[in-house]
Amino acid sequence: MVDGEDGGAVELTYSGYLKLEELLDLQEPRSNPPEHDEVLFIVIHQVYELWFKLLLHEIDKIKRDLTAGELFGAIATLKRVRMVLKTLVGQIDILETMTPMSFLAFRDRLETASGFQSAQFREIEFLLGYKRADMVGHLPDGSPERSRLEKRLNEPSLVDGLYDFLERRGASIPVRLRRRDVTLPTEPDEMVQEGLLQLYRTQPDAGILLELMTDVDEGLQEWRYRHVKMVERTIGNKRGTGGSPGAEYLRGSLFKPVFPDLWAIRHRF
Ligand code: HEM
Repeated sequence: MVDGEDGGAVELTYSGYLKLEELLDLQEPRSNPPEHDEVLFIVIHQVYELWFKLLLHEIDKIKRDLTAGELFGAIATLKRVRMVLKTLVGQIDILETMTPMSFLAFRDRLETASGFQSAQFREIEFLLGYKRADMVGHLPDGSPERSRLEKRLNEPSLVDGLYDFLERRGASIPVRLRRRDVTLPTEPDEMVQEGLLQLYRTQPDAGILLELMTDVDEGLQEWRYRHVKMVERTIGNKRGTGGSPGAEYLRGSLFKPVFPDLWAIRHRF
């Protein structure tokens, strides 16, 4: 039951609970006359932002679980994150049904708007440890999204949660890493790698966690790859609406892991 306008109680409905009237009113194509594919373009970006919201919610929990030593909680949530990433990658297939011609029919209406300005995507990168302070400056001064990203920049990342967990399980994490400036990106470290190998060899339950973290890392790299291929087939070597050189800029971030230590040990098993 919820309170109605007249103060009386009314039945909660599906649409009321999900605020569907508001949600379904948020897709506003800018093309005039309307270009058919702009609706797809808007819906898919909004859906991505909703998934980003969930990813932040879930990865925050994994960080807390790792710090608290809640291994099974972290494992269960990592599985969910991995599946969401697979869905994000899969959705690119839908966008690729839009031809370059249909995109170009409304592209200029995007003006300088670009996924490059997705604050939640940057929050995910920062939360996973891929911090770049200069990214904050690309968001409007004084905006709520900029303050959220600034907060993330100054917070420990998931990798700090992993260090907490590794220490609980007997690994030594260099003091230099524990006291480092948290606004800097994760750096690979040989002592951490030794600790990871030791856990893989002696504590199979921790090994399951580390494999899932590797899945998540690979999932994000897969998304970057599919995004750049979609960009290449849709706009070729044109510049991005965000002002970057486009596909060439995006190729620069391919194959860069967020958990470098997990990749650095693969030849040592
Ligand atoms: C026709 C579809 C798309 C095209 C042509 C496209 C194009 C581009 C280009 C050229 C960039 C580089 C920045 C710039 O200069 O604008 C970029 C960045 C980005 N796009 Fe897309 N994009 C498309 C769809 C999407 C979708 C559906 C998402 C999902 C949210 C997305 C998220 C991003 C993100 C997060 C970045 C920043 C990547 C980074 O800096 O590493 N894009 N996109």
